[in-house]
Amino acid sequence: MSWHHMPLWRAAAPATRGIAAPGARTVRQQHRGGSPVRDKDMNNMQTGSTPQDDRTGDSALGGLGAQARGASGGLLPEIWMHEGANRVEQVLARLLCAEHDGETELMAAMRYATLHGGKRTRALLCLAAGTLADAPAHMLDDVGAAIEMMHACTLVHDDLPAMDDDVLRRGLPTVHVKFGEATAILVGDALQAHAFLTLASLDAPGDSRIALVRELAQAVSAEGAAGGQAKDLSLVGKHVELDRIVAMHQMKSGALVRASVRMGALCALAENAAHAALYCALDHYSACFGLALQVIDDILDVTADTATLGKTPGKDAAAQKPTCASIMGLQAARQFALDLLRDAGNAIAPLGPRAERLAQLLQRANAYLFKHAPCA
Ligand code: IPE
Ligand code: IPE
Ligand code: MG
Ligand code: MG
Ligand code: MG
Repeated sequence: MSWHHMPLWRAAAPATRGIAAPGARTVRQQHRGGSPVRDKDMNNMQTGSTPQDDRTGDSALGGLGAQARGASGGLLPEIWMHEGANRVEQVLARLLCAEHDGETELMAAMRYATLHGGKRTRALLCLAAGTLADAPAHMLDDVGAAIEMMHACTLVHDDLPAMDDDVLRRGLPTVHVKFGEATAILVGDALQAHAFLTLASLDAPGDSRIALVRELAQAVSAEGAAGGQAKDLSLVGKHVELDRIVAMHQMKSGALVRASVRMGALCALAENAAHAALYCALDHYSACFGLALQVIDDILDVTADTATLGKTPGKDAAAQKPTCASIMGLQAARQFALDLLRDAGNAIAPLGPRAERLAQLLQRANAYLFKHAPCA
């Protein structure tokens, strides 16, 4: 049975080994604390070099710190991330061009939801994994744009009054506040359709396009983001075990992160026995990274301000959402995130310098956490 025909929970199983409960970890990073020493901001698409100093959290990256500083002679992280995000931005602007259906309010709202910022983490993961696998750059840009459209869809729906009821996103009024609830629902619908349309229209063999469409569909299915969001809503007001929060996070956020990495690799390599080791490493990397991103999001909801987040802080507590921060406490959640980033680094370490960009994205998330949730 090929990977693609497996239900998500089975397909994801190898990647999620060892990340369910922090207490079960065998290797623990001994974080010694201290002040945040980096001044690079994830929102500015920067990572930059850092000293090999435990206070930076570099050692949390599974020994990939040297690679992340360009030891393999690749482009500096701030350069490729900036350029990659810009290219994806241009594809998005082209695909969501008004001339596709005139100046409708719906298309204006779709552009508003998609083109105004965001860290572009998922697109960059796709670019990094695809570069590792030698995928054609133009294809990666289009696939990265499709993934960001899907991500924007999940955000627009996540913010709706029936969901998290948020009024601020990426520093701007949320789509339903600006355009009305009905339009926001349709924006999500249409962005999802445009994401699949983009993949179906790629200049690539039919098999590749089908594999990409399947990956993205699976990631947002009832076994992925949609199912995770349903769990999220069902847990409001409840005190639950950490395992359930982890399972929810893996679905609501982790599945799309995992798909972003897999889709980048799929742009070059079919998933088959010859590439099993590579996909296994990428899956473990993305499972750890995807979970870490949501844990960091949970932490920053408590520690960061509106200017940093571009959204309203303190929303999780106000809405009685159980999160990693509320269940574990801030410091343990922070350590959990660091452990996950380190495990992600360890997963790709055997791939050597060609995994450099994936390592740099870990370092960017690490720096973001250190900057906006310093150790107590
Ligand atoms: C926000 O994702 C929702 C989560 C899954 C944590 P990001 O933090 O990647 O949001 P943007 O795209 O940068 O705005
Ligand atoms: C949302 O998680 C994950 C999605 C699938 C969009 P959150 O509800 O914590 O994301 P934010 O904090 O609103 O960005
Ligand atoms: Mg939510
Ligand atoms: Mg939300
Ligand atoms: Mg959140």
